[in-house]
Amino acid sequence: MTRLSLRFPIDGQRLLAVGEAGPSDAASLLNHARQVARESDFLSAGPGERALTLEAQVALLRRLRSKHRGFVLKGTSGGRLVAVLSVVRPNQPRLRHRAELGLTVRAAHWGQGIGRRMGEAAIALAAEQGLRKLNLRVRADNRRAIQLYQALGFSREGLSPRALRVRGRFFAEVMMGLCLDAWGAGELRSPRTIAGGVGNPPRVPI
Ligand SMILES: CC(C)(COP(=O)(O)OP(=O)(O)OC[C@H]1O[C@@H](n2cnc3c(N)ncnc32)[C@H](O)[C@@H]1OP(=O)(O)O)[C@@H](O)C(=O)NCCC(=O)NCCS
Repeated sequence: MTRLSLRFPIDGQRLLAVGEAGPSDAASLLNHARQVARESDFLSAGPGERALTLEAQVALLRRLRSKHRGFVLKGTSGGRLVAVLSVVRPNQPRLRHRAELGLTVRAAHWGQGIGRRMGEAAIALAAEQGLRKLNLRVRADNRRAIQLYQALGFSREGLSPRALRVRGRFFAEVMMGLCLDAWGAGELRSPRTIAGGVGNPPRVPI
């Protein structure tokens, strides 16, 4: 299986390291999930609601790797985990060509291009692993996320009313999708990069 290791300059001075998370990252991924649930109201799990144990998280990460069920990317800066992106594919033969994407960046690091870098890396790795479609769902009033996904090439595919209920208030979700036909397998670059994005350093294998 491909092991990803990328470095990007962010914020003019620091580096963002993007790599695949494994079972040894389980505790820091759980801590990240707890933190982002407190920082953003846009997620499907609120503070304290994501009741995954450490053992369950380790098992999930093992299963993703050993069964080719997708991957989790971790984005670290200054030794701290600042972003997590998951791509999880179903097991059924008729569904295995597609996967569901989820992305969270720690609030202190929003607006620095980290989400975009994580998304580009995930799209490239998904294409390399033979995935043909990425899907995601995003709260309809999450303008920052929708803007980011559109910039990454995702299109709106529909609207699901009353998809979330947060403190008694309903919110619709936008369903978005990206077909990966545009990139050949092994092409580790996103459409934005191909279209002339700057500053994307070469891929460095671990
Ligand atoms: C949504 C989220 C992942 C974006 O990550 P980010 O690192 O802040 O995004 P980036 O800095 O890479 O910005 C990417 C694009 O988003 C858009 N964007 C950034 N800040 C924005 C803002 N304040 N308002 C609207 N759009 C904005 C821009 O189009 C930007 O593109 P650009 O690089 O060409 O300017 C992050 O804010 C987050 O984790 N939010 C909480 C959890 C969440 O909502 N996750 C998505 C669930 S589906």
